[in-house]
Amino acid sequence: MEKKEESLCKYDLSNNIQLIIGDALDSNFKTKFNMIYLDPPFNSKRNYTLNYKNNLGFKDKWTDIDYENFISKIVDKMYSILTDDGTLFFHISSSGMFIPEKVLRKKFKFVEPIFWKKCRSKNNVKKKLGSTIDIIFKCNKKAKSKFNLTYQKKDSVYLQKSFNNKDDFGNYALGHLVTEKTKKGYMYTVNINGRIFNPKSGWRIKKTQLDLLIEENRVHIPKKKEAKLYKKIYLSENPGKRCTDLWDDIHSISQGKELRKYPTSKPIKLLERLITISTDEHDLVYDPMCGSGTTGEACYNLNRKCIMNDINNDVISIIKSRFNNKIKS
Ligand SMILES: C[S@@+](CC[C@H](N)C(=O)[O-])C[C@H]1O[C@@H](n2cnc3c(N)ncnc32)[C@H](O)[C@@H]1O
Repeated sequence: MEKKEESLCKYDLSNNIQLIIGDALDSNFKTKFNMIYLDPPFNSKRNYTLNYKNNLGFKDKWTDIDYENFISKIVDKMYSILTDDGTLFFHISSSGMFIPEKVLRKKFKFVEPIFWKKCRSKNNVKKKLGSTIDIIFKCNKKAKSKFNLTYQKKDSVYLQKSFNNKDDFGNYALGHLVTEKTKKGYMYTVNINGRIFNPKSGWRIKKTQLDLLIEENRVHIPKKKEAKLYKKIYLSENPGKRCTDLWDDIHSISQGKELRKYPTSKPIKLLERLITISTDEHDLVYDPMCGSGTTGEACYNLNRKCIMNDINNDVISIIKSRFNNKIKS
């Protein structure tokens, strides 16, 4: 269905995903959004096309003053349509982060950078350091905003090194049971087959909890006389490592399996992680400069509602074909 409204063209891509064509600065919403992903032109002083044969793309040549003006206006607008516990993610190259960071810190109380290592190497760059990092500023109005813990896969070398103990239930790593030397824990003595364990700084858990772990054979008993007891953490039960602010496990489209549909389009996994961290099912997401519609597809996969917007008419067919394929499959 296509509707014309106040010079903006609207397309329903599925029940919960909509595309608007027009300037994001002209958009008007009565509702507020739980998450906004803003991936604007980066002020890279060049124009983007899909390839040398194809003009499909957008312009990115500005003076710094014009760019700062544009970013200030769009950030003000996004702030006004973000829920109080919502998150704005602002995506920018590391070389272009200065102006957006200045603008974002003026507006938002909490601004934390996520460092996305988008590619492994830049062997084609010889006269300067190859840039492999994009910054995604996570911006919140309140300290207690909506936040869901997510996990990254652990590095295989790390896994081999850490989960190097084995029993009948599989490989396991060692979790601390004894309190750090600088703190005082629960003070009690444990007797396992006549061996006494009585750490000077105490235990991290209560005696009843440790007794239960021993009964369940979940305590690693060291061979060395003076060594400590540890909790067994099985590899099979391990969800991965908690996401930090360094993301080095998602590759840019040029180095991954996804097909590039639009210059500067971002990988679906990146958007899925941002959405998972900041929203729950059925929440409402907005992407004011959506390009090829990665955010919409990620929302579709994760059962979130989404409104996307772009000023460039070229994106209509790209996004429509993306959704037609999605809905067919
Ligand atoms: C970096 S690209 C976004 C890429 C997108 N995240 C993806 O995965 O394909 C930036 C987009 O901003 C759009 N844009 C630039 N100025 C705009 C404006 N004032 N309103 C809406 N869209 C705009 C451009 O047309 C371009 O598609």
